[in-house]
Amino acid sequence: MYVRTLTLRDFRSWDQVDLELSPGRTVFLGANGNGKTNLVEAVGYLSTLGSHRVAADAPLIRLGAQRSRLGATVVNSGRELRIDVELNQGSANRAQINRSPVRRTREILGILQTVLFAPEDLALVRGDPSERRRFLDELCTARLPRLAGVRSDYDRVLRQRSALLKTAGRQARSRSGQATELSTLDVWDGHLATHGAELLAQRLRLVNDLYPHLEQSYRSIAPESRTASIRYRSGYLPPEFLDPARPPEAQDVEVLEAIMLRELSEARPKELERGVCLVGPHRDDLELMLGSAPAKGFASHGESWSFALALRLSAFELLRGMGTDPVLMLDDVFAELDRHRRSALAAVAATAEQVLITAAVPEDVPAELEATPLRVETDGAADERTSHIADQVSPTTS
Ligand SMILES: Nc1ncnc2c1ncn2[C@@H]1O[C@H](COP(=O)(O)OP(=O)(O)OP(=O)(O)O)[C@@H](O)[C@H]1O
Ligand SMILES: [Mg+2]
Repeated sequence: MYVRTLTLRDFRSWDQVDLELSPGRTVFLGANGNGKTNLVEAVGYLSTLGSHRVAADAPLIRLGAQRSRLGATVVNSGRELRIDVELNQGSANRAQINRSPVRRTREILGILQTVLFAPEDLALVRGDPSERRRFLDELCTARLPRLAGVRSDYDRVLRQRSALLKTAGRQARSRSGQATELSTLDVWDGHLATHGAELLAQRLRLVNDLYPHLEQSYRSIAPESRTASIRYRSGYLPPEFLDPARPPEAQDVEVLEAIMLRELSEARPKELERGVCLVGPHRDDLELMLGSAPAKGFASHGESWSFALALRLSAFELLRGMGTDPVLMLDDVFAELDRHRRSALAAVAATAEQVLITAAVPEDVPAELEATPLRVETDGAADERTSHIADQVSPTTS
């Protein structure tokens, strides 16, 4: 698939841009702070309804504006779909498909598939488990858009159950009103297990599909290094579920739900004592291994980069295997890579249907990619600086 048009209003440093894009490789060139990453961030937002840089939407709205509008025309195997999102300061976001409003913004998920590799990805290897859970969940959702609903139900139940644990814990300690709180907790256990099991089953299925791609991608990027592998990590699942080579089974969701219910009931006293929910996919992690050592804490800077890149490239291969290439976005990454890794990445980029690259200078982009340059500039003073695409297209980077 590819993005044919990108329209932004009051998004980050862009007051307005209407961009025509082609399949193949495009590089956004410009000095630091000119708004290049903002463009790929916008495309990423239309794909995942989230930013790779910030957790909340507020920083995405242009300073001084009340709302921000993002839109794209996506061409997938000759079929065009238009998606639009409006980010509102202080009220709910809204979305449209082909100019018709949808009930929930998440209905646009799945229309635009992207894989973004950015400097922030080092956190996939070195950061908290939440970074890796987000990687898994975004990829699960790209494969199965209805999982967005499951994730949001799970998060809601988790919040409510956690609040209840806190009050029930306090009341248990003061010996008042326990019975009602505890029976309500039983109901929430059921909801948590239902949604949690669905999410878990998809994550395990993903790890099972992803691990051969990951091993292969890492080997192509860093052939001299130890073998890379991944494994789902969870404190409450039996070991056989954590084996990445275990093929998923039809009854997994029911089995996982039963396991969660059992574990929740066992953990109940501890949960009440601590006032936190100790069982469920929100506690899990994706273990990244280099040879027999965990990458986190052991991998060198270069190895960590390679691992992060391998995770993104294996995600790309996995989505590509579903029938259409996701849009590949490479934010400022070539400059960080050595010659071998640059050409491994360039080799994948050369075959992708559409690649959007950002770079400060043309020399940062491998010449063999023959990327079409678009110059991103800013003007205006201090806080009023506005990005725009220069009319003059500079000579090609090749
Ligand atoms: N909400 C916002 N409103 C206005 N401007 C913003 C907003 N958020 C970010 N900016 C501006 O956007 C600019 C950063 O844009 P971006 O990250 O796209 O730069 P870049 O071209 O990728 O730079 P680099 O080469 O350093 O990566 C900064 O100047 C920042 O002040
Ligand atoms: Mg940038």
